[in-house]
Amino acid sequence: MPPFAVTPGGFLLDGRPFRVLSGALHYFRVLPPQWPQRLRALRAMGLNTVETYVPWNLHEPRPGEYDFSGPADLDGFLRAVRDEGLYAIVRPSPYVCAEWDNGGLPWWLAADRDVRALRCRDPAYLAHVDRWYDRLVPVLAAHQVTRGGHVLMAQVENEYGSYGSDTGYLEHLAAGLRARGVDVPLFTSDGPDGPRLTGGTLPGVLATVNFGSRPREAFAALRRLRPHDPPLCMEFWCGWFDHWGEEHVVRDAGDAAAALAAVLESGASVNIYLAHGGTNFSTWAGANTADPATGAGYQPTVTSYDYDAPVDERGAVTEKFRAFRDVLAAYADGPLPEPEPPAALLPPSRVALSGAVALLDVLDALAAPPVTAPEPPFFEELGVAHGLVLYESRVPGPRGPYPLSVHGLADRAHVLVDGRPAGVLERDAAESLDGLAVPAGGSRLALLVESMGRVNYGVGIGDRKGVRRVLHDRQLLHGWTARAVELGHGTPERVPWGARAGGSEAVGPVFLRGSLEVAAPADAYLALPGLRKGYLWVNGFCLGRYWPERGPQRTLYLPWPLLRAGRNEIAVLELDGADDPAVEVGHTPDPGRP
Ligand code: GLA
Repeated sequence: MPPFAVTPGGFLLDGRPFRVLSGALHYFRVLPPQWPQRLRALRAMGLNTVETYVPWNLHEPRPGEYDFSGPADLDGFLRAVRDEGLYAIVRPSPYVCAEWDNGGLPWWLAADRDVRALRCRDPAYLAHVDRWYDRLVPVLAAHQVTRGGHVLMAQVENEYGSYGSDTGYLEHLAAGLRARGVDVPLFTSDGPDGPRLTGGTLPGVLATVNFGSRPREAFAALRRLRPHDPPLCMEFWCGWFDHWGEEHVVRDAGDAAAALAAVLESGASVNIYLAHGGTNFSTWAGANTADPATGAGYQPTVTSYDYDAPVDERGAVTEKFRAFRDVLAAYADGPLPEPEPPAALLPPSRVALSGAVALLDVLDALAAPPVTAPEPPFFEELGVAHGLVLYESRVPGPRGPYPLSVHGLADRAHVLVDGRPAGVLERDAAESLDGLAVPAGGSRLALLVESMGRVNYGVGIGDRKGVRRVLHDRQLLHGWTARAVELGHGTPERVPWGARAGGSEAVGPVFLRGSLEVAAPADAYLALPGLRKGYLWVNGFCLGRYWPERGPQRTLYLPWPLLRAGRNEIAVLELDGADDPAVEVGHTPDPGRP
């Protein structure tokens, strides 16, 4: 008998009945020095297992270039899990959804013309997946319970029944995991109804279901399809995530605890999604579309991934934690440890930002060499994961006032005509400007396009950033120059601070900076009065996007490991223009009103 076994009567660990009491925590959304405190909070809540996805795009930022360091240290995370006495469930991609950029699929797949389709047996796509699995699978295989580690089981794809019908693709992935050394049980996870459930499962592979409520109905549907699979809810949604410009979503603690109690009373195992959410640092937040079947109605996800989870973004326990602990205590082997307090908080302060450097004045230092093309090239074709691209062309004149329309805008553009701001366009919401009149001799047209998260669910995955085409009235504008500025960790180090103002600070984005003195590293929530939309860095680490004008999120979580005693460098790139810009260091998160 293998150490961990799936039987019709339930799961067995070392021959004894084992109820999987798991909570999701994504190592890549938490800084490594904070993993142990977060993991101990899960144990104190009454969990025996932690579940994580593996985001392919974080680990392979460019084809064949791998990163398993820092927040991408999967091996280190699995060691920390074992050290804290927890078991692990791993959901190793290639697609993870998870409100993560492109659902974990690398952006560069869109730049490979041989890749015609994602998440199916497209040969070029599979070749990339196989190469990735060669690198990834040995890392996770070494941690399996069959080799003295703590990994109990591994997932094949993610909710595939909600996406496609190529079950041969699922078989390819399952065989790929097995061939590279995975010998713990495999499973699939899907919505509990209709084609979503039937379409995502594989013969001989444990089927699990995802839901937030009505456990009886969900498990009944699973039993009808798989009478011999022990019931496991792989994603019990105890909270939810937010989109920019929408209301903050919360789930009542008592309601969630009652649903959790019903899951456990039915005899099932569970993975709470999420026990601790963390943060979508840098440019890793994904996006949804209002209609996953057409890809229309773009909804970018905010920077916080607090998720209204029982352990909050900074590792503090909540009312939901207490309610879940009361439920889980009945299923524990002994008394539960008390949760430890989170890290200390910085004393409140205000950091003024100054030294404006206009992005358009320092393009030579920051942008890749200009690329010219008849039609505007996409970010992916320019080799850029995320950031800003300045697209420039000419509109012939003289012309009467006609609309200027941008097709395939992804995702937001500042429009400049002859160097003057002419408006801001947004994907799906405002993709044209009315009445652009052009003098004899024509006008210079510039679009400064910002990418937001790539869609992570539905047919919209694999979206390309930039613009597809630009028209004045019905005429396509040709002859473009594109200059790409990649944004991410380390960007402020490339800014020529102190460059002389060239006038562009009045019309375009500006970099600003300030310094934060601390006696000792501690946590904080940063509010951004006087700022509108942009990116914030602390000592070169990109905390993520801010957009207080849109909300609902109005503070950014600053984790203590990013700070050092003494002087710390804060930098922002403000896209929409700042008056009296400052960063307020405070104690309270402002996720927005529910
Ligand atoms: C699905 C996915 C998860 C996540 C949740 C919503 O169940 O499998 O990755 O996106 O939805 O948070």
